[in-house]
Amino acid sequence: MDGRGRALLVPHGPIVNYRMREIGVGLLGLGNVGAGVVRLLEENAKAIEARLGAKLVIRGAAVRDLGKERRAEIDSSLLCDDPMELATREGIDIVCELIGGEELARELVLAAIGANKQVVTANKALLAVHGEELYASAESNGVDLYYEAAVCGGIPIIRALREGLASDRIESIAGIVNGTSNFITCAMAQGGQSFEEVLATAQAEGYAEADPTLDIGGGDAAHKLAILAMLCFGTRVELDDIHVEGIETLAEIDYAMAKQHGYVIKSLAMGVRREMGIELRVHPAMVPQSWLLADVPDTKNAVYVRSYALGPSMYYGAGAGMMPTAMSVVSDLIEVGRNLGANATGSMPLRIQRDLPATAVIPMAQLRSHYYLRFTVADLPGTLGKLTTILGQHQVSIANLSQTVMPGDDEHEQVAVVARTHEALEEHVQSALQAIAGAGLLLAPTQLIRIAS
Ligand code: HSE
Repeated sequence: MDGRGRALLVPHGPIVNYRMREIGVGLLGLGNVGAGVVRLLEENAKAIEARLGAKLVIRGAAVRDLGKERRAEIDSSLLCDDPMELATREGIDIVCELIGGEELARELVLAAIGANKQVVTANKALLAVHGEELYASAESNGVDLYYEAAVCGGIPIIRALREGLASDRIESIAGIVNGTSNFITCAMAQGGQSFEEVLATAQAEGYAEADPTLDIGGGDAAHKLAILAMLCFGTRVELDDIHVEGIETLAEIDYAMAKQHGYVIKSLAMGVRREMGIELRVHPAMVPQSWLLADVPDTKNAVYVRSYALGPSMYYGAGAGMMPTAMSVVSDLIEVGRNLGANATGSMPLRIQRDLPATAVIPMAQLRSHYYLRFTVADLPGTLGKLTTILGQHQVSIANLSQTVMPGDDEHEQVAVVARTHEALEEHVQSALQAIAGAGLLLAPTQLIRIAS
């Protein structure tokens, strides 16, 4: 100190006997993401230490097959095949759950929490299905449960919603949250390929799962929306409350018609706050070409948020993949590590506004939207009249109508009649479609696509 009580900066030599604090990490699973975590911790060690003020040290990794080749260098003495033992082992401060699936992951996470470990997970299905139980357990044990990598891979959307927008009121979100679906819709929009061909490419490139049902059927997006909706609207969401439709029934003609009308087809996960509750839905949508979401290419993800104070904001990037997802996991490790250092674990509420009563999810029948309807019918006199009459009888007003000969139908017997509607009530549209299906006019099921606005 100088004479006036100010601290003096004194040059000093190297710090002797200084030992960086260590934080023990246990990896449950060492697949692609686990290997990415190992690599990032190694390759970015200096920066991570500087940002955290401590060293993240992998003290064990539980794997199913000890002999399997890995995508990252790891000392074989760290490998074990008993995840439960590792999840509760002394010396492990943070358990990193990367095995996926629901039941075993749930047991392991609960055991880790019970043993006072902090937990980082990338498992969206686990949180979407068992979130309530896990959050409650983490809260009552005063431990951290972080899950940035569970939604949109490398995009820090959880942090943005939980912290960046913590003071705001989120009115709606619209996200492209499944990279495989986005890859398929982008490729289909280029034309010249069937859904099956594009899906086969996605599988060959490793974007889609071997069983891609969750991707293309919308289930994966619903898991992510359940987690996002809890953060955005402070409500508990049951997966069954989310209306889910996939992209598997869309045909090349739908993409061509979308383009003709100034739209791009995207699979959207949407959450909208209304006066009576919230809308939660995953389905293909016609997105105006002028929207930022219309330009999201290939396997990329994006979430467009509208909030009261900020207005619109968008979060964009790689929603999957080894290094982007590992990046989110390691960022969580750093944050949890900081909480450990500050003795502040368990202090971040896992559910924003958790004391508010559950917000009602509005039934899909109450949705108001504009619709694209494609009817496959025989090119016979009176067909168009019958179709439009039934739509009118159900209070569905047509804004635009066109008829196209189906590709490959040289005889001009089968046509696609496409109607774009004015705003209508989903309930009315569905009852009109039922009546049309019962009127013996259709040669194939009708394709409905909601128009985003
Ligand atoms: N199968 C998912 C996707 C991976 O295609 O986006 C990330 O959840």
